[in-house]
Amino acid sequence: MKTLLLEQIKSIIDKDLPLVSNLANVASILNKLENINWCGFYLVKDNTLYLGPFQGDVACTIIPYGKGVCGTAFKEKKTIVVDNVNEFKGHIACSSLSKSEIVTPIIKNDEVKAVIDIDSPIYNRFNKEDQLFLEEVANILSTLF
Ligand code: SME
Repeated sequence: MKTLLLEQIKSIIDKDLPLVSNLANVASILNKLENINWCGFYLVKDNTLYLGPFQGDVACTIIPYGKGVCGTAFKEKKTIVVDNVNEFKGHIACSSLSKSEIVTPIIKNDEVKAVIDIDSPIYNRFNKEDQLFLEEVANILSTLF
């Protein structure tokens, strides 16, 4: 399943298209993952994260550097896996449905350009395999920035 999704992402992205067009389609592909209620992107502008293409309910539009799970992944330049969002200090609750979350930064030339965020309505949804998958997605998408 994950190998197939990676292949789909590689084949659908096109460097000649606007970033938002590529990320919109990738959000749709990521939404095929099981047991998730939100997936999408926050894009870095002026050292702040702004909502990008996503699938799911309306979400918060601005996340400051270092705030929430997304802002922490941005600051620490690494994937953050949260098994239980209620136990993550400063978690930003966009949806009361979300119980666990994974956020992976997209890094180019040592700079975070965006983060990929996936939320799940069940606790402990994301494991090491999901992390490696999302880091591979981020690696592929870094070529678009
Ligand atoms: N929970 C995130 C905010 C974004 S929503 O999950 C879509 C956070 O704490 O950064």
